[in-house]
This record gives sequence, structure tokens and C-alpha cells, in this order.
Amino acid sequence: GRLVDLAAEGGRWTRIGESLAADGAEEIDAEARLVTPPLVDCHLHLDASLTAGRPRWNESGTLIEGIQVWGELKPSLTEQDVFDRAHEIVRWSVAQGTLFIRAHADVSGENEAMVRGLLRLRDEVADLCTIQVTAFPQDGIFARDGDEEMLENAIRLGVDCVGGIPHYEPTSELGLREVHRVFELAKQHSRRIDVHCDETDDPNSRFLEVMADDTVKFGLGGRVTASHCTAMGSYEPYYSSKLHGFLRRAGINVVVNPYANSLIQGRLDVYPKRRGFAQLKELLAAGVNVSLGNDVIMDPWYSMGRADMIEAASLALHFTYMSGREEIPEMLRCATERGARTLAVEDEYGIEEGKPADLVVFEAPSAIEVLRLHASRRWVIRRGRVVAETTPARTTLLGEPVTFSPPGG
Ligand code: FE2
Repeated sequence: GRLVDLAAEGGRWTRIGESLAADGAEEIDAEARLVTPPLVDCHLHLDASLTAGRPRWNESGTLIEGIQVWGELKPSLTEQDVFDRAHEIVRWSVAQGTLFIRAHADVSGENEAMVRGLLRLRDEVADLCTIQVTAFPQDGIFARDGDEEMLENAIRLGVDCVGGIPHYEPTSELGLREVHRVFELAKQHSRRIDVHCDETDDPNSRFLEVMADDTVKFGLGGRVTASHCTAMGSYEPYYSSKLHGFLRRAGINVVVNPYANSLIQGRLDVYPKRRGFAQLKELLAAGVNVSLGNDVIMDPWYSMGRADMIEAASLALHFTYMSGREEIPEMLRCATERGARTLAVEDEYGIEEGKPADLVVFEAPSAIEVLRLHASRRWVIRRGRVVAETTPARTTLLGEPVTFSPPGG
């Protein structure tokens, strides 16, 4: 890292360099703490957040029971209820340095409350947090009459991304049709794509290769994201290496969601059990962009969570073997710069003169220490303004401070 001064005016970085003249209206001495551009949460079901226990708890903890519980709750949701819960999660996120979120709004079924609530949130909180809304057909688009129309309806309402769930269609043939339909709609309406792809332990679930092929054929490289992709944890080496090349050539982004998938995948296995994660480490080595999401926060799939992308990166690090000296800082990039690439917001992202003055100051000196300590976010700056501040916890033992760092370190 480099030690520099940063100056902002009118919400944008104006000067970056060593020992700038200190003439700002407001100044912060970061005292050589680590500074990064904002954290990016690439995958979050904000419409379901904070509904855990409504109308009943997911007793088994499985994905399928989660979808059933959510299906029971969905028809009764109102736009205001969705807005209020999602707004609270945005507050938690921004307070911890996440200033970019890609949210998913369930558009299956008759109720428009989820997509309307999240679109209103996107527009109302834009000064504080950049939100992209994906139309996510939770139940597929070909299993039930009318669901394909509801996906198209959400595009008309103004979502940023077209979503899908091909592995959840009744047959693999319908799954293939779904992928093609998603690409047609995105191309026709100039939207980005973010598909729940192969979120299963079935090694025969291979819709990702179809997404790669369509990305090239539709000319949408850089604007397509495949989320979860947990079947990749069950692909054998030959197929995996072939797939990595396809993904890199297509310029697809892959999003890993460690919370739900660490609990859901491999659940039906006898021991030894599979981990069920996308091959994050191998994808990065192959030149594929990978980023991270919280996915689930106190909802029918996951009763825990607190919207912290550093905790998500730390959990993903363990499940994907990213523990090498150079790999740990790379995990922080998966939660920051790589996330911005997934959202295709690089023009408005990064600590560079002329770009929006957004940043996070961590209560730690390095990426490794941030991930080891789950360091608090001392200050969060959005458009040149301090929007969040955390006073670090102070622990004492027999009256002496305990810092959880090596003596003299
Ligand atoms: Fe998801």
C-alpha cells in the first residue's frame, strides 16, 4: 500500500498525492489505516430480508423448505413492508462500508410488491447507496402460466437486470429455453443479466456453459453474471477446465454466496460430504472475474446474517481454500473492485481523481488484518461526506488492554 492524502470537492476526488496542503473544510486523519473503495454486495435477496419466522420457521433448514415458506409469505407482502425491511438492510450495509448492492426481487406469482418495493428503494436511497434491481423468477418462468409475463412486466417496471433460475425449471429442456429467453429479453431491452445458475449439487446441471455461449452469441460480454454456480463444486477436472476457458472467453462474472450455500449444499450427501462451492480459486487463476454476495439475511433460507461483506469474504476464503499470502488480499478485492466489475459500475468506482469520493477506512493496516480481525469500518465516505462511523470495541483483561495483535505489531 501507498501512504497518500486524498482531497474531495463537490462529491468527487479532486487531488490524490503525497502531503497535500491541508486546507479542507473537514479533515480526517486515517493514521495509515487501510483505505479501499467501497465494499460491493453483488447478490442480496433484499425483498426477503428480515422475514425469518414469517409465517413460520424453516424447520429443516433446507433450500426447498425455504422456498416453500417464502411461497406462503409472498402473496401477503405489501410494497411498504418490502421497502421498510430492505431499507433497514441498506442502513446496515452502508454503515459497514457497502455502497453498491445488486438486489433480487422475486417476480414469480401475481404480487408486484417485491419488485415495486425494491425499485422505490433504489430510487430513494441513490445518494447513499447504489442499488441495481434484478427481476428474479424464483419459481422459473415455464412451470406455471403467467410467470414469463411477470418477468417481462418487471422489465417494463424498470429493473436493471434480467434474472433466471434454469436448474429449477421442470425439465432441462425448459431450463435451456429459459436461458435463451433471458438473453433475448436482456438484449431487446438493454438490461444486464444475473441468473441463479446451477445452484444445486447435481454435476449434470450445466446451464453455465449455455450462458457462456449465449453471452458470446448475443455480444453481451461484461454484462452477464452467473450467481451461486454451486454444481461447479461437483464437476470433474476435465469438464471444469473446459468450462473455465469458456467463461473467460465469454467475459462472464461469477458470484459466490458463502452463507446459504455453506449450509445448503452437500446436505443430502452421506459422509464424505461435498462442499458445493463454485471453483473461486481456479476461476480467478483462469482469468474469470469472481465476486461475493451476502445473498440471505434473516430470511426463510438463513436466520442469521448482518450484512457484513468482510464476514462474507472471510467465510468464502475458508470454503474456497483462498488462504495463501497473495490470496487473502485477493479475497478483499472480490468484495470490492471485482464486485464493481460484476455490477459494471467501474466508471463510478475507485479512488481516482474525477470519480465519486467514496471510500472505506478500516480499523486495521492491511487486507490480511482486515480479514483476520473482521476489522470495523472506522469511517465510511459517500460522495465526499462521512456517512458512517464506528468506534472500535475496546477489550481489557485484568485492567490491561487486549488488542488481538502480536505485541509490538
Ligand atoms: Fe440467490
